[in-house]
Amino acid sequence: MKFPSISQRAALAPPSPIRKLVPLAESAKKRGIKVYHLNIGQPDFKIPPKIQKELEKAASLDYLPYASSLGITENILAWKKYYGKVGVSLETGEIIVTTGGSEALLLSMAAVSDPGDEILTFEPFYANYLGFANLLSAKIVPVPLNPSSGYHLPERKIIEGKISKRMKAILVTNPNNPTGTVFSKKELLLILEIAGKYNLFIIADETYRGISFDEKRCYSFLEICKKADRQRIITTDSVSKRLNICGARIGAIICKNRGILAALNAFCQARLSSPTIEQLIVSSAIYDLSYVKYLSLEYKKRRDAFIKTLEFELAIKIHSPEGAFYTMVKLPISDTDHFAAWMLSSFSYQKQTVMVAPGSGFYATDGMGKDEIRVAYVLNEKEMTAAAKILARGVREYREIKNKISNIKNK
Ligand SMILES: Cc1ncc(COP(=O)(O)O)c(C=O)c1O
Repeated sequence: MKFPSISQRAALAPPSPIRKLVPLAESAKKRGIKVYHLNIGQPDFKIPPKIQKELEKAASLDYLPYASSLGITENILAWKKYYGKVGVSLETGEIIVTTGGSEALLLSMAAVSDPGDEILTFEPFYANYLGFANLLSAKIVPVPLNPSSGYHLPERKIIEGKISKRMKAILVTNPNNPTGTVFSKKELLLILEIAGKYNLFIIADETYRGISFDEKRCYSFLEICKKADRQRIITTDSVSKRLNICGARIGAIICKNRGILAALNAFCQARLSSPTIEQLIVSSAIYDLSYVKYLSLEYKKRRDAFIKTLEFELAIKIHSPEGAFYTMVKLPISDTDHFAAWMLSSFSYQKQTVMVAPGSGFYATDGMGKDEIRVAYVLNEKEMTAAAKILARGVREYREIKNKISNIKNK
Protein backbone atom coordinates (compact mmCIF):
# COMPACT_ATOMS: atom_id res chain seq x y z
CA MET A 1 0.00 0.00 0.00
CA LYS A 2 1.21 3.54 -0.80
CA PHE A 3 1.36 6.29 1.81
CA PRO A 4 2.17 9.98 1.43
CA SER A 5 5.78 10.90 2.18
CA ILE A 6 6.72 12.72 5.36
CA SER A 7 7.87 16.35 5.19
CA GLN A 8 11.47 17.30 4.40
CA ARG A 9 11.58 18.86 7.85
CA ALA A 10 10.54 15.56 9.42
CA ALA A 11 13.03 13.59 7.36
CA LEU A 12 15.86 15.97 8.28
CA ALA A 13 15.08 16.32 12.02
CA PRO A 14 18.43 15.87 13.82
CA PRO A 15 18.50 13.35 16.70
CA SER A 16 19.57 14.72 20.08
CA PRO A 17 23.19 13.71 20.77
CA ILE A 18 22.21 13.62 24.42
CA ARG A 19 19.33 11.18 24.09
CA LYS A 20 20.21 9.09 21.04
CA LEU A 21 22.22 6.51 23.00
CA VAL A 22 19.44 5.94 25.54
CA PRO A 23 18.39 2.51 24.12
CA LEU A 24 22.00 1.27 24.58
CA ALA A 25 22.00 2.55 28.17
CA GLU A 26 18.68 0.84 28.83
CA SER A 27 19.97 -2.49 27.57
CA ALA A 28 23.19 -2.13 29.62
CA LYS A 29 20.99 -1.64 32.71
CA LYS A 30 19.01 -4.75 31.80
CA ARG A 31 22.34 -6.64 31.82
CA GLY A 32 22.79 -5.49 35.44
CA ILE A 33 25.30 -2.72 34.68
CA LYS A 34 25.21 0.54 36.64
CA VAL A 35 25.33 3.48 34.21
CA TYR A 36 26.74 6.80 35.44
CA HIS A 37 24.73 9.39 33.50
CA LEU A 38 27.08 12.21 32.57
CA ASN A 39 25.26 12.65 29.27
CA ILE A 40 22.32 14.80 30.32
CA GLY A 41 21.94 18.00 32.33
CA GLN A 42 19.68 16.42 34.89
CA PRO A 43 21.19 16.81 38.36
CA ASP A 44 20.63 14.44 41.25
CA PHE A 45 19.56 17.14 43.75
CA LYS A 46 16.19 16.72 45.42
CA ILE A 47 13.34 19.19 44.76
CA PRO A 48 14.00 22.39 46.80
CA PRO A 49 11.99 22.21 50.09
CA LYS A 50 10.02 25.37 49.25
CA ILE A 51 8.69 23.76 46.05
CA GLN A 52 8.08 20.44 47.81
CA LYS A 53 5.73 22.27 50.22
CA GLU A 54 3.86 23.95 47.35
CA LEU A 55 3.55 20.57 45.67
CA GLU A 56 1.84 19.17 48.76
CA LYS A 57 -0.58 22.10 48.78
CA ALA A 58 -1.36 21.61 45.08
CA ALA A 59 -2.41 18.02 45.78
CA SER A 60 -5.63 19.32 47.36
CA LEU A 61 -6.75 21.33 44.29
CA ASP A 62 -10.13 20.20 43.09
CA TYR A 63 -10.16 22.23 39.89
CA LEU A 64 -7.42 22.41 37.28
CA PRO A 65 -8.13 25.06 34.67
CA TYR A 66 -6.02 26.27 31.73
CA ALA A 67 -3.72 29.07 32.75
CA SER A 68 -3.84 32.34 30.84
CA SER A 69 -1.81 32.03 27.60
CA LEU A 70 0.82 34.44 28.86
CA GLY A 71 1.06 32.82 32.30
CA ILE A 72 -0.68 33.07 35.67
CA THR A 73 -0.29 36.41 37.44
CA GLU A 74 1.50 34.88 40.43
CA ASN A 75 4.18 33.38 38.18
CA ILE A 76 4.60 36.51 36.07
CA LEU A 77 5.02 38.59 39.24
CA ALA A 78 7.60 36.10 40.52
CA TRP A 79 9.69 36.54 37.36
CA LYS A 80 9.34 40.33 37.68
CA LYS A 81 10.63 40.20 41.25
CA TYR A 82 13.48 37.87 40.26
CA TYR A 83 14.59 40.12 37.39
CA GLY A 84 14.44 43.15 39.68
CA LYS A 85 16.90 41.36 41.97
CA VAL A 86 19.33 40.66 39.10
CA GLY A 87 19.30 44.26 37.91
CA VAL A 88 16.63 44.21 35.18
CA SER A 89 13.52 46.29 35.71
CA LEU A 90 10.45 44.91 33.89
CA GLU A 91 6.79 45.67 33.32
CA THR A 92 4.50 42.66 33.76
CA GLY A 93 3.58 42.83 30.05
CA GLU A 94 7.24 42.16 29.19
CA ILE A 95 7.16 38.64 30.67
CA ILE A 96 5.62 35.60 29.00
CA VAL A 97 5.56 32.26 30.81
CA THR A 98 6.48 29.32 28.56
CA THR A 99 6.63 25.55 28.74
CA GLY A 100 10.31 25.43 29.61
CA GLY A 101 13.19 27.33 28.09
CA SER A 102 12.75 25.04 25.08
CA GLU A 103 9.43 26.56 24.12
CA ALA A 104 10.79 30.03 24.89
CA LEU A 105 13.59 29.41 22.37
CA LEU A 106 11.36 27.92 19.70
CA LEU A 107 8.86 30.80 19.92
CA SER A 108 11.60 33.43 19.99
CA MET A 109 13.26 31.94 16.92
CA ALA A 110 9.84 31.74 15.23
CA ALA A 111 9.18 35.39 16.02
CA VAL A 112 12.35 36.60 14.28
CA SER A 113 12.95 34.20 11.39
CA ASP A 114 11.22 33.14 8.19
CA PRO A 115 12.14 29.94 6.30
CA GLY A 116 15.67 30.30 4.94
CA ASP A 117 16.65 33.01 7.43
CA GLU A 118 19.85 32.60 9.40
CA ILE A 119 20.64 32.68 13.10
CA LEU A 120 24.25 33.02 14.18
CA THR A 121 25.49 31.16 17.23
CA PHE A 122 28.80 30.08 18.73
CA GLU A 123 30.03 26.54 18.24
CA PRO A 124 29.94 24.12 20.07
CA PHE A 125 26.34 24.96 21.00
CA TYR A 126 23.30 23.49 22.76
CA ALA A 127 22.36 20.75 20.31
CA ASN A 128 18.61 21.37 20.33
CA TYR A 129 19.13 24.73 18.58
CA LEU A 130 19.51 22.65 15.41
CA GLY A 131 16.20 20.89 16.13
CA PHE A 132 14.38 24.22 16.67
CA ALA A 133 15.89 25.73 13.51
CA ASN A 134 14.87 22.64 11.55
CA LEU A 135 11.26 22.95 12.77
CA LEU A 136 11.22 26.53 11.48
CA SER A 137 13.24 25.87 8.30
CA ALA A 138 15.75 28.42 9.57
CA LYS A 139 19.52 27.93 9.41
CA ILE A 140 22.01 27.95 12.28
CA VAL A 141 25.27 29.62 11.20
CA PRO A 142 28.09 28.62 13.57
CA VAL A 143 31.07 30.72 14.61
CA PRO A 144 33.67 28.27 15.97
CA LEU A 145 35.11 28.85 19.42
CA ASN A 146 38.45 27.60 20.54
CA PRO A 147 39.16 25.45 23.62
CA SER A 148 42.56 27.12 23.96
CA SER A 149 40.83 30.45 24.72
CA GLY A 150 38.34 28.79 27.09
CA TYR A 151 35.67 28.96 24.34
CA HIS A 152 35.53 32.74 24.66
CA LEU A 153 34.63 34.94 21.69
CA PRO A 154 36.98 35.23 18.73
CA GLU A 155 37.98 38.51 17.11
CA ARG A 156 35.19 40.77 15.94
CA LYS A 157 36.03 40.30 12.24
CA ILE A 158 35.53 36.51 12.52
CA ILE A 159 32.00 37.03 13.85
CA GLU A 160 31.22 39.74 11.30
CA GLY A 161 32.52 37.51 8.51
CA LYS A 162 29.60 35.13 9.09
CA ILE A 163 26.88 37.75 8.77
CA SER A 164 24.83 37.55 5.59
CA LYS A 165 21.75 39.36 4.27
CA ARG A 166 19.57 36.52 5.60
CA MET A 167 20.93 36.83 9.12
CA LYS A 168 18.21 37.79 11.62
CA ALA A 169 19.62 37.16 15.06
CA ILE A 170 22.62 36.27 17.20
CA LEU A 171 21.84 33.52 19.69
CA VAL A 172 24.05 33.63 22.78
CA THR A 173 24.03 31.03 25.56
CA ASN A 174 25.41 32.51 28.74
CA PRO A 175 26.54 30.69 30.88
CA ASN A 176 27.15 28.24 28.12
CA ASN A 177 26.07 24.70 27.52
CA PRO A 178 28.13 22.69 26.47
CA THR A 179 31.35 24.60 27.28
CA GLY A 180 30.55 26.09 30.69
CA THR A 181 31.98 29.43 29.54
CA VAL A 182 30.65 32.60 31.18
CA PHE A 183 30.99 35.50 28.75
CA SER A 184 32.40 38.72 30.16
CA LYS A 185 30.66 42.08 30.10
CA LYS A 186 33.13 43.17 27.38
CA GLU A 187 32.16 40.20 25.21
CA LEU A 188 28.44 40.87 25.61
CA LEU A 189 29.02 44.54 24.73
CA LEU A 190 30.83 43.41 21.57
CA ILE A 191 27.80 41.29 20.57
CA LEU A 192 25.54 44.27 21.24
CA GLU A 193 27.70 46.46 19.02
CA ILE A 194 27.66 43.92 16.18
CA ALA A 195 23.91 43.39 16.50
CA GLY A 196 23.42 47.17 16.32
CA LYS A 197 25.70 47.56 13.30
CA TYR A 198 23.94 44.82 11.28
CA ASN A 199 20.47 45.41 12.73
CA LEU A 200 20.08 41.96 14.29
CA PHE A 201 18.05 40.65 17.19
CA ILE A 202 19.84 39.04 20.11
CA ILE A 203 18.29 35.89 21.52
CA ALA A 204 19.87 35.61 24.95
CA ASP A 205 19.53 32.08 26.32
CA GLU A 206 20.23 32.72 29.99
CA THR A 207 18.92 29.41 31.31
CA TYR A 208 22.00 28.97 33.56
CA ARG A 209 22.19 32.55 34.87
CA GLY A 210 23.72 32.60 38.34
CA ILE A 211 25.35 29.17 38.18
CA SER A 212 29.00 30.21 38.11
CA PHE A 213 32.25 29.62 39.99
CA ASP A 214 35.29 31.41 41.30
CA GLU A 215 33.49 34.77 41.65
CA LYS A 216 32.68 34.86 37.92
CA ARG A 217 29.75 37.27 37.47
CA CYS A 218 26.93 36.36 35.03
CA TYR A 219 25.81 39.51 33.20
CA SER A 220 22.50 39.68 31.35
CA PHE A 221 22.20 41.54 28.07
CA LEU A 222 19.23 43.49 29.42
CA GLU A 223 21.24 44.53 32.46
CA ILE A 224 24.14 46.05 30.56
CA CYS A 225 22.70 47.27 27.25
CA LYS A 226 21.97 50.88 26.28
CA LYS A 227 18.30 51.85 26.41
CA ALA A 228 18.09 51.95 22.60
CA ASP A 229 19.27 48.33 22.33
CA ARG A 230 16.60 46.89 24.63
CA GLN A 231 14.25 46.52 21.65
CA ARG A 232 16.51 43.98 19.95
CA ILE A 233 16.94 41.65 22.95
CA ILE A 234 14.78 38.60 23.54
CA THR A 235 15.82 36.76 26.70
CA THR A 236 14.84 33.13 27.20
CA ASP A 237 14.83 31.70 30.69
CA SER A 238 13.89 28.59 32.63
CA VAL A 239 13.45 27.25 36.14
CA SER A 240 14.78 23.83 35.06
CA LYS A 241 18.40 24.31 36.09
CA ARG A 242 18.34 27.25 38.47
CA LEU A 243 15.73 25.60 40.69
CA ASN A 244 16.80 22.12 39.71
CA ILE A 245 13.30 21.13 38.66
CA CYS A 246 13.65 20.15 35.00
CA GLY A 247 10.37 18.20 34.92
CA ALA A 248 8.26 21.21 35.91
CA ARG A 249 8.59 22.56 32.34
CA ILE A 250 8.37 26.23 33.22
CA GLY A 251 10.35 28.93 31.44
CA ALA A 252 9.89 32.51 30.32
CA ILE A 253 10.53 34.99 27.54
CA ILE A 254 11.54 38.47 28.59
CA CYS A 255 11.20 41.10 25.90
CA LYS A 256 10.67 44.85 25.65
CA ASN A 257 9.86 44.97 21.92
CA ARG A 258 6.12 45.55 21.41
CA GLY A 259 6.07 43.97 17.93
CA ILE A 260 7.73 40.79 19.13
CA LEU A 261 5.49 40.69 22.20
CA ALA A 262 2.37 40.89 20.00
CA ALA A 263 3.64 38.01 17.83
CA LEU A 264 4.51 35.93 20.88
CA ASN A 265 1.09 36.64 22.34
CA ALA A 266 -0.54 35.20 19.19
CA PHE A 267 1.79 32.15 19.21
CA CYS A 268 0.97 31.54 22.88
CA GLN A 269 -2.76 31.77 22.32
CA ALA A 270 -2.46 29.04 19.68
CA ARG A 271 -0.83 26.68 22.17
CA LEU A 272 -3.30 27.67 24.93
CA SER A 273 -1.16 27.71 28.06
CA SER A 274 1.78 26.37 30.06
CA PRO A 275 1.06 23.90 32.89
CA THR A 276 -0.99 25.51 35.67
CA ILE A 277 0.15 23.45 38.67
CA GLU A 278 3.81 23.85 37.80
CA GLN A 279 3.46 27.63 37.49
CA LEU A 280 1.86 27.68 40.93
CA ILE A 281 4.39 25.50 42.69
CA VAL A 282 7.54 27.22 41.41
CA SER A 283 6.40 30.84 41.83
CA SER A 284 7.66 31.53 45.35
CA ALA A 285 11.04 29.93 44.61
CA ILE A 286 11.78 31.84 41.39
CA TYR A 287 13.09 34.97 43.16
CA ASP A 288 14.99 33.13 45.90
CA LEU A 289 18.62 33.74 44.93
CA SER A 290 20.06 31.71 47.81
CA TYR A 291 19.30 28.35 46.15
CA VAL A 292 21.33 29.15 43.04
CA LYS A 293 24.26 30.17 45.27
CA TYR A 294 24.05 26.82 46.99
CA LEU A 295 23.93 25.04 43.61
CA SER A 296 27.00 26.94 42.38
CA LEU A 297 29.03 25.82 45.39
CA GLU A 298 27.94 22.22 44.88
CA TYR A 299 28.70 22.20 41.14
CA LYS A 300 32.12 23.68 41.74
CA LYS A 301 32.99 20.72 43.99
CA ARG A 302 31.67 18.29 41.38
CA ARG A 303 33.57 20.03 38.57
CA ASP A 304 36.82 19.97 40.52
CA ALA A 305 36.45 16.32 41.54
CA PHE A 306 35.78 15.19 37.98
CA ILE A 307 38.44 17.27 36.23
CA LYS A 308 41.16 16.49 38.77
CA THR A 309 40.50 12.75 38.55
CA LEU A 310 40.23 12.51 34.76
CA GLU A 311 43.27 14.76 34.18
CA PHE A 312 45.31 12.56 36.51
CA GLU A 313 44.06 9.24 35.12
CA LEU A 314 44.58 10.12 31.45
CA ALA A 315 47.40 12.66 31.79
CA ILE A 316 45.41 15.19 29.76
CA LYS A 317 44.47 18.83 30.28
CA ILE A 318 40.77 19.62 30.52
CA HIS A 319 39.19 23.02 29.97
CA SER A 320 37.88 24.16 33.37
CA PRO A 321 34.40 25.66 32.94
CA GLU A 322 33.39 28.90 34.63
CA GLY A 323 29.69 28.18 35.01
CA ALA A 324 26.65 25.99 34.24
CA PHE A 325 27.55 22.34 34.87
CA TYR A 326 29.11 21.06 31.68
CA THR A 327 32.51 20.74 30.13
CA MET A 328 33.81 19.64 26.75
CA VAL A 329 36.62 17.10 27.07
CA LYS A 330 39.05 16.36 24.25
CA LEU A 331 39.96 12.66 24.36
CA PRO A 332 42.80 10.78 22.66
CA ILE A 333 40.12 9.09 20.52
CA SER A 334 39.19 9.92 16.92
CA ASP A 335 35.53 8.88 16.89
CA THR A 336 33.72 9.62 20.14
CA ASP A 337 30.33 8.68 18.62
CA HIS A 338 31.62 5.14 18.33
CA PHE A 339 33.38 5.31 21.70
CA ALA A 340 30.27 6.53 23.57
CA ALA A 341 28.19 3.70 22.07
CA TRP A 342 30.96 1.17 22.84
CA MET A 343 31.06 2.28 26.49
CA LEU A 344 27.42 1.23 26.78
CA SER A 345 27.35 -1.85 24.58
CA SER A 346 30.75 -3.50 25.03
CA PHE A 347 32.52 -2.11 28.11
CA SER A 348 32.02 -2.38 31.82
CA TYR A 349 34.27 -2.40 34.86
CA GLN A 350 32.96 -4.15 37.96
CA LYS A 351 29.49 -3.98 36.42
CA GLN A 352 29.69 -0.20 35.91
CA THR A 353 30.01 2.10 32.91
CA VAL A 354 29.63 5.76 31.97
CA MET A 355 27.29 7.44 29.51
CA VAL A 356 28.61 10.61 27.84
CA ALA A 357 27.36 12.78 24.99
CA PRO A 358 29.54 12.55 21.85
CA GLY A 359 30.94 15.96 20.88
CA SER A 360 29.93 15.98 17.20
CA GLY A 361 26.25 16.67 18.00
CA PHE A 362 27.18 20.06 19.46
CA TYR A 363 28.63 21.29 16.16
CA ALA A 364 27.01 22.25 12.86
CA THR A 365 30.36 22.14 11.04
CA ASP A 366 30.96 18.72 9.54
CA GLY A 367 33.78 16.72 11.14
CA MET A 368 34.05 18.93 14.24
CA GLY A 369 33.86 17.50 17.76
CA LYS A 370 34.76 13.94 16.70
CA ASP A 371 37.46 13.73 19.39
CA GLU A 372 35.40 15.46 22.10
CA ILE A 373 32.72 14.46 24.57
CA ARG A 374 30.45 16.65 26.64
CA VAL A 375 30.26 15.83 30.31
CA ALA A 376 27.51 17.04 32.65
CA TYR A 377 28.86 17.02 36.21
CA VAL A 378 25.48 16.38 37.72
CA LEU A 379 26.32 13.61 40.20
CA ASN A 380 27.78 14.05 43.68
CA GLU A 381 31.55 14.34 44.17
CA LYS A 382 32.02 10.69 45.09
CA GLU A 383 30.09 9.50 42.05
CA MET A 384 31.85 12.00 39.74
CA THR A 385 35.21 10.70 40.96
CA ALA A 386 34.15 7.08 40.45
CA ALA A 387 32.70 7.91 37.01
CA ALA A 388 35.92 9.70 35.95
CA LYS A 389 37.98 6.63 36.90
CA ILE A 390 35.69 4.29 34.96
CA LEU A 391 35.63 6.64 31.97
CA ALA A 392 39.46 6.72 31.98
CA ARG A 393 39.56 2.92 32.14
CA GLY A 394 37.17 2.80 29.17
CA VAL A 395 39.37 5.22 27.18
CA ARG A 396 42.48 3.12 27.85
CA GLU A 397 40.77 -0.15 26.95
CA TYR A 398 39.20 1.32 23.80
CA ARG A 399 42.57 2.65 22.65
CA GLU A 400 44.24 -0.72 23.24
CA ILE A 401 41.61 -2.47 21.12
CA LYS A 402 41.93 0.14 18.34
CA ASN A 403 45.74 -0.16 18.41
CA LYS A 404 45.58 -3.95 18.19
CA ILE A 405 43.19 -3.75 15.20
CA SER A 406 45.37 -1.23 13.39
CA ASN A 407 48.53 -3.32 14.08
CA ILE A 408 46.82 -6.38 12.55
CA LYS A 409 45.73 -4.30 9.51
CA ASN A 410 49.28 -2.96 9.05
CA LYS A 411 50.88 -6.42 9.11
C1 LIG B 1 21.34 26.10 26.95
C2 LIG B 1 19.99 25.53 27.20
N1 LIG B 1 18.93 26.24 26.83
C3 LIG B 1 17.68 25.77 27.02
C4 LIG B 1 17.46 24.54 27.59
C5 LIG B 1 16.05 24.07 27.75
O1 LIG B 1 15.70 23.84 29.05
P1 LIG B 1 14.21 23.61 29.54
O2 LIG B 1 13.33 23.41 28.36
O3 LIG B 1 14.25 22.42 30.42
O4 LIG B 1 13.86 24.85 30.27
C6 LIG B 1 18.55 23.76 27.99
C7 LIG B 1 18.37 22.42 28.58
O5 LIG B 1 19.26 21.66 28.82
C8 LIG B 1 19.85 24.27 27.79
O6 LIG B 1 20.93 23.58 28.15
